[in-house]
Amino acid sequence: MSETTAIGIDIGGTGIKGAVVDLATGELLSDRVKLATPKGGRPKDIVETTRKLLETVSAGATDLPIGVCFPAVVKNGHTMSAANVSEDWIGLAAEDLFEKGLSRRIHFVNDADAAGYAESQFGAAKGEPGVVLLTTLGTGIGSALLNDGVLVPNTELGHLEIDGHDYETKAAYSAKEREDLSWEKWARRLQKYYTTLEALFSPDLFVVGGGVSKNHADFLPLLDLRTRIVPAVHRNNAGILGAAALAVKFPG
Ligand code: BGC
Repeated sequence: MSETTAIGIDIGGTGIKGAVVDLATGELLSDRVKLATPKGGRPKDIVETTRKLLETVSAGATDLPIGVCFPAVVKNGHTMSAANVSEDWIGLAAEDLFEKGLSRRIHFVNDADAAGYAESQFGAAKGEPGVVLLTTLGTGIGSALLNDGVLVPNTELGHLEIDGHDYETKAAYSAKEREDLSWEKWARRLQKYYTTLEALFSPDLFVVGGGVSKNHADFLPLLDLRTRIVPAVHRNNAGILGAAALAVKFPG
């Protein structure tokens, strides 16, 4: 394997996924392994599950860079928020905890930032100049802001307050499911959300990620925006790809 090979691990509220990635092409070089996130999402349990996953994914390749992404604000290796995971993560020296638990150096980042970086390197925003805003529509809403391919981390735009609501509680895919919203009803909320983002950032391109982006034909055409809006290419693998790519970009 060349030095353009790294391991990406994506920690989410329901699953922890990982694979070996070829960073020259953005393709997975191993099977994508997925383990269920332990109930309660507590730090010690998540680190232990990640250790098991890494054993399977790395299959003895102990020298590859490892990137781990996580659904929280990540500042200097610390997790500073916990929107859909255990509150034990708030203020935790998470990077350190993973490094001890895995007995390996890692690079630790926000999950949407990893996904946005992956789309800018290997996907829907590849070679796109200007301001690109990726949002992931899942349990919550994650955001990644890039300007000419340079990431501004931890934007957390899923928590924009609109009409008095933390708007991910209204417009995430989980809200569609929880409230059994039709595509049309959900799209009305997305319209409000993306119009607000448009007014704040005047982006050149919106990229919509998360598992539901495979159904983009059901909701993206319902939106009326000035800004081009396209589905992500890598969807559920974007976090893995981006975490791996960022581990190589920022070694040590
Ligand atoms: C979290 C973000 C995360 C997003 C997607 C939000 O609730 O605050 O950090 O990126 O969910 O997982």
